[in-house]
Amino acid sequence: MAENTLTLIDNRTNQTYKVPIENGAIRAMDLRQIKTGPEDFGLMSYDPAFMNTASCKSTITFIDGDKGILRYRGYPIEQLAEHCTFLEVAYLLIHGELPTEQQKRGWVDDIKHHTMIHETTKDFMARFRYDAHPMEILVSTLAALATVYPEAKNIADPENRRRQIVRLIAKVPTIAAYAYRHSLGFPYVYPDNDLSYTENFMNMLWKMVEPKYVANPVLARALDILFILHADHEQNCSANAMRAVGSSHPDPYLAAAGASAALAGPLHGGANEEVLKMLDVIGDKKNIPDYIKKVKEGQFLLMGFGHRVYKNYDPRARIIKQIAEQVFQVTGTNPKLEIALELEKIALQDEYFVKRKLYPNVDFYSGIIYEAMGFKPEMFTVLFAIPRMTGWLAHWQEMLTDKEQKIARPRQLYVGSDLRKVPEQFGIKAAIGA
Ligand code: ACO
Repeated sequence: MAENTLTLIDNRTNQTYKVPIENGAIRAMDLRQIKTGPEDFGLMSYDPAFMNTASCKSTITFIDGDKGILRYRGYPIEQLAEHCTFLEVAYLLIHGELPTEQQKRGWVDDIKHHTMIHETTKDFMARFRYDAHPMEILVSTLAALATVYPEAKNIADPENRRRQIVRLIAKVPTIAAYAYRHSLGFPYVYPDNDLSYTENFMNMLWKMVEPKYVANPVLARALDILFILHADHEQNCSANAMRAVGSSHPDPYLAAAGASAALAGPLHGGANEEVLKMLDVIGDKKNIPDYIKKVKEGQFLLMGFGHRVYKNYDPRARIIKQIAEQVFQVTGTNPKLEIALELEKIALQDEYFVKRKLYPNVDFYSGIIYEAMGFKPEMFTVLFAIPRMTGWLAHWQEMLTDKEQKIARPRQLYVGSDLRKVPEQFGIKAAIGA
């Protein structure tokens, strides 16, 4: 049988090395033994933007980007979207298994009992400028929660960790809704424990003076499915940030603030907001060819297209397209859908996009649905952050309990100046230690 090893020859020294292959990878540390002499630090691998580096072993999410496959804990995303609620999927991501009926009751009950935020946090949120971006309010408020739960620093205690995980999953919709209400100048609405996770979020967003908020069931289910689709996506930029920040052992509120900051950027979760802005700029189907021409000239990116991992249709985009139809039956069609469909059609036939395997990603259609539901584009990335909190926490927990993990600290290849002396003209400003 073939050996699971890799043989390397260092042409500088003519030395041969054999390194084991495990799970289709070699350990970068096995390269360190490759040296030209005793003074040599040893060979490193250079991989800007982690194009080909696995930073961990994980059991949470599986993606086959070439085939367009996405699974959480082994379950295909299509089945989870069809048969489960978001909180069942959240349980799966955190615990590794779907809940039994009894486990589900306990889990849902726990989450419902932690949806409120401290009144001082509410006041803190009210102090943001009237036009503050809701995503920036979310990032800052997540960090501020660390001040409310100082015991969260005790990350070594599994029970304590679990309490913070429940708190974060429970409170992120409340913070998101308050960020939204803040931008509209509306009073904040307290959570309603009679409602499901998603219905309660809608209640906190849209309840006005009616005594009881009643969510439209089609829209509530659509939002729940959108939450399922966004819950995790293995080592994406924000999950990597969660792991990297968490690896120095701050509490999970600070790590989640770091992760959500990573999500906010336009190349990651911020793309859904950018897609809507792009569709506004295009304005009409007749302007698409000219827009595509400019993209191909490198003037700007086609937002909502392309993915580091998917080199095929993003399976989430496919499900989102189906949800769009159901939502539009309730809300009426979003005229931007027509532009988006045409844009997709033209791009998928164009050699530039075909050659580079650029397909619509999850963000391409989600914004169109969110807008039809009544959200302003500034809220889109916040809507992404709510379910992704669960994925971040699953990664945080996996990282903390992985014996191989340590503080995340990459190496660099120093290519700057050699040793040099500060020129005389700078003189001596003060004696050292004075
Ligand atoms: N529009 C036009 N060209 C693109 C696009 C795009 N959206 N995406 C990639 N390309 C081109 C690149 O210019 C590059 O071309 P080249 O080979 O001629 O230089 C080629 O395709 C490969 O692209 P990379 O930038 O190497 O791909 P990478 O994996 O680094 O980036 C990313 C992936 C960041 C998602 C990129 O496709 C992008 O910026 N897309 C637009 C933003 C977006 O939609 N982000 C959401 C991603 S999904 C998510 O985070 C939830």
